[in-house]
Amino acid sequence: MAQTKVRMAMVGGGEGAFIGAIHRIAARLDNQIELVAGCFSSKAERSAAMAAQLGISTARCYDSYQQLFAAEAQLPPEQRIEFVTIVTPNHLHFPVAKAALLAGFHVLSDKPATLSLDEALQLQALVQQTGLRYGLTHTYAAYPMALQAKLLVQQGNLGAVRRVAVSYPQGWLANKADSDGSAQAQWRLDPARSGISGCFADIGTHAFQLAEFVSGLEVTELCADLVTVIDGRQLDDDGSALLRFNNGARGTLLASQVCAGMGNGLQISVYGELGSLSWQQEQPDQLIVQLRGQPQQTWQAGTDKAYLAEQVRAWCRTPAGHPEGYLEAFANIYRDFALALRQPTTSNLAAGIEQAVRGMAFVQAAVVSSRQNTAWVSIAGQYTFTG
Ligand SMILES: NC(=O)c1ccc[n+]([C@@H]2O[C@H](COP(=O)([O-])OP(=O)(O)OC[C@H]3O[C@@H](n4cnc5c(N)ncnc54)[C@H](O)[C@@H]3O)[C@@H](O)[C@H]2O)c1
Repeated sequence: MAQTKVRMAMVGGGEGAFIGAIHRIAARLDNQIELVAGCFSSKAERSAAMAAQLGISTARCYDSYQQLFAAEAQLPPEQRIEFVTIVTPNHLHFPVAKAALLAGFHVLSDKPATLSLDEALQLQALVQQTGLRYGLTHTYAAYPMALQAKLLVQQGNLGAVRRVAVSYPQGWLANKADSDGSAQAQWRLDPARSGISGCFADIGTHAFQLAEFVSGLEVTELCADLVTVIDGRQLDDDGSALLRFNNGARGTLLASQVCAGMGNGLQISVYGELGSLSWQQEQPDQLIVQLRGQPQQTWQAGTDKAYLAEQVRAWCRTPAGHPEGYLEAFANIYRDFALALRQPTTSNLAAGIEQAVRGMAFVQAAVVSSRQNTAWVSIAGQYTFTG
């Protein structure tokens, strides 16, 4: 018998939204997920307009996320949604995830997981209580060559890791007049909707998660210097941090949205006692490996590359020299999430609730450190923070 598609709802992602459409394409790419319901906007008429565009029945386009979960829970099990994907501004991630979990639905959320660490800890407790699945779309760790980098480190090819350098320069907020009126900038620069940090919450969390994912290490403490480069903004638009890892390795993390001219320049290098590797998001199919005493190697993504790990090839869809990118990385998260719902014992490499909590502890530690003139701050020490 043919397997039924996994039924998904979306909250957020209305007309003009940045990431909602990317999620919808990614969810469809492997033909295993069907978008059947949604609340795409806080305004009912805008939500209905998006539902009409997507061919979702008016009965399953809801005026609020609360209505969505209440009504879907009443439908027969074989019709109701199985999970919700959350693509709203940050302040809604926790309330929507909480409502979904309490109504019995799995959650796939965009990052950062919540508005605060306190909310992330509450969310973790709820995920544990309900036993439902929670995934976080840290897209960059779902690129095939980021995974291959992780595996090379894990298998000891670089020896002990000594240093991790991750940097994420963007330029889209470099000029106030060009950017600050946009819907995307407005909520990202508003503490009520973005949280205690702007840039570090928005993209610093990606850099932090990628550093821990690829190195296989945990950051224990950091000191951070968050900056508001453009006058009049309430939150950081730039910053850098020094990192200390649990094996004694050191690291640097840069996140900035005011580097004029830059697109999405996320890159990571890991330096070990036997060799080093580097991966750049804007050249995602290539991984540079430099082992001591050997010529530089360029590892290339592709279904035909027998030298790649099996899990890595499973994250590729095209053979020799056919580029893949952002949509496919998102689709890897969706496909693995759907598979895990159908076969709950499947291991899932995508970020989950633990990374959700760690990401928010990172943001809080960075803000606390920066407010104390870049004092060293423990990540774990943030978990009891109540201020
Ligand atoms: N993983 C990634 O690479 C990545 C990239 C971009 C954005 N993001 C994250 O995705 C989220 C959305 O970012 P964006 O840039 O698309 O924002 P956006 O402002 O473009 O879109 C947000 C959408 O949420 C809708 N919305 C607001 N309140 C709502 C409510 N109460 N109910 C239903 N819908 C509501 C808005 O109408 C809009 O359609 C953010 O948390 C952001 O951090 C992640």
